[in-house]
Amino acid sequence: MPEPGLPKSGAPDLPDIAWLTRLANEMFRTQLDNPSPSAPLPVGGFGLAPPSTPLPDMPAPAITAPGEGELRTLLAGEPAAPVPAAGATPPGAFGGFGLAPPSTPLPGVPNLGASIPGEAELRALLGGTPGAPVPLPPAQAPLAGATPPGAFGGFGLAPPSTPLPEVPALGTALPGEAELRALLGPALGLPAPGTPPQASPGTQATSSFYFLEEAGHGVPAVGARPDAAPGTNFDANARRSDFPILAERVNGRKLIWLDNGATTQKPRAVIDRLVYYYEHENSNIHRAAHELAARATDAYEGAREIVRRFLHAGSVDEIVFVRGTTEGINLIAQSWGRRYIGAGDEIVITWLEHHANIVPWQMLCEQTGAKLRVAPVDDNGQVLLDEYGKLLGPRTKLVAFTQVSNALGTITPSHLMTQMAHAVGARVLLDGAQSVSHMRTDVQSIGCDWFVFSGHKVFGPTGIGAVYGRTDVLEESPPWQGGGNMIADVTFEHTEYHRPPTRFEAGTGNIGDAVGLGAALEYVEQVGLEAIAAHEHDLLQHATHLLGQIPGLRLLGTAPEKAGVISFVIDGLKTEEIGRALNQDGIAVRAGHHCAQPILRRFGVESSVRASLALYNTHADIDALAASVRRIRAGASGMI
Ligand code: ALA
Repeated sequence: MPEPGLPKSGAPDLPDIAWLTRLANEMFRTQLDNPSPSAPLPVGGFGLAPPSTPLPDMPAPAITAPGEGELRTLLAGEPAAPVPAAGATPPGAFGGFGLAPPSTPLPGVPNLGASIPGEAELRALLGGTPGAPVPLPPAQAPLAGATPPGAFGGFGLAPPSTPLPEVPALGTALPGEAELRALLGPALGLPAPGTPPQASPGTQATSSFYFLEEAGHGVPAVGARPDAAPGTNFDANARRSDFPILAERVNGRKLIWLDNGATTQKPRAVIDRLVYYYEHENSNIHRAAHELAARATDAYEGAREIVRRFLHAGSVDEIVFVRGTTEGINLIAQSWGRRYIGAGDEIVITWLEHHANIVPWQMLCEQTGAKLRVAPVDDNGQVLLDEYGKLLGPRTKLVAFTQVSNALGTITPSHLMTQMAHAVGARVLLDGAQSVSHMRTDVQSIGCDWFVFSGHKVFGPTGIGAVYGRTDVLEESPPWQGGGNMIADVTFEHTEYHRPPTRFEAGTGNIGDAVGLGAALEYVEQVGLEAIAAHEHDLLQHATHLLGQIPGLRLLGTAPEKAGVISFVIDGLKTEEIGRALNQDGIAVRAGHHCAQPILRRFGVESSVRASLALYNTHADIDALAASVRRIRAGASGMI
């Protein structure tokens, strides 16, 4: 006698679909009602073995179902945003709120059947009567070691705490993303099945989800209104959906990332490119005569060409991959600097510099007997050009300065300062760490001898950056580090070095992240730097206006030419306290000395709060920042 629910004729090894339907629904309901990861499932194992007792009747599940925001997140293929909730279901019991993102197949579990659940079940599961409001269950925060959301697909089949058993193929399929989109997409205004989850940069997105995200900061939702500078096609709100991490919630609030000066978030295009590299191209470069070495080499050298184009350098041989701006400046100091700078020579920097453009020169001065001279700034944070000019002379061998101050946002007049330095025969190094994501770079137009930047500040990975060095300058520079890759020939008596840029890339470089950097720069190119600059200029004005009205708040850095940074202190409040309080509101800023102590001391402070912008920031972000700062300040003054 076959057990109840076992398959009937024609499929001797398979349970029947109706039975599976009931089983899947029962499992899902039980998991929602009793989500402990260690709680036994109601039926054998993962629930796909026949039960020893008949299944109970299954009334409509008494569950809370996802609301529109979660559905949009789910159906848009965005990762579920875990929200810590006191007393919430133990993390890891479900992917997200029990409906794990469907984009990743459930490991080891085959498709389970198009009729499981059907449309009626799906509607019941997802929200009962169409249009009826449904309360949301609390989401879970991931625990260390917990399965990350998205590792489990399926629909209502929550990940168990133990590995899944192998289960037989069942021939039909649960509704996947495509079916869900087809079923519910029109009602939610989602793109049709097959539509890529994000619009190409630079185009208007067909749908963006920010209007749901605006809630929670006490600022008005702005609907589908684009957030852009007038006269541009750019829409920061549309671009936000390119950055998966911006769907995160912090302390129950939508994440507002205003710490872009420290590092920028990564668009899906970069994340996908890294995944593709490691899935299809990973190899060491240049050496092995095999297919993957060729792919990795093509990808790496392709990224070098993208960097060349992005900086408008004349040749790919002028682009050296390094770990970042800091390593780039140290390379120049220890390679070119050690050869061409000697006792009595002078190196000129400005008060605006990051420690990375101070300390390597101090070290070089100690090693060579050269002298470091510093051009002062005015009370707005602008380089005093007449004072700078006075420092330049026949002893000046090198001028190194930032294009945008990381602490104040001042844009320096790089063309003019370069010309002035060249007029006395000095070489010029421009630190582009804080400028590349905000304005178009053209090293040939500026005429600098070197330009350095970090990938992670321009939407690329950490641990990768580049040095541009004009061909004649790189050719006259000795290697810095010795080892493999940078040599043409080695004997015990003598080593011949490669020509630049390989000469400066000893050892195995950060190949994958160089490729990721290329993807990041392509992304920025497609969005368009002029549009980004115009949008950020608007945001900066908006922020300056709003913050400037808060009593007791002092803005640091008020130069007319600024990019990306609003730095401030508030009377009677420690900057760390402000940073922590903003974090409570989900707003990430940097509070501290920003690795630029001299310029902060120039303004009489040891630290500041710094909000730093990127293309995905919106006017609503600035409104939320200003509202929080007001509350923090009012709270501290006992005014609320
Ligand atoms: N240089 C980075 C900053 O300004 C770390 O925050």
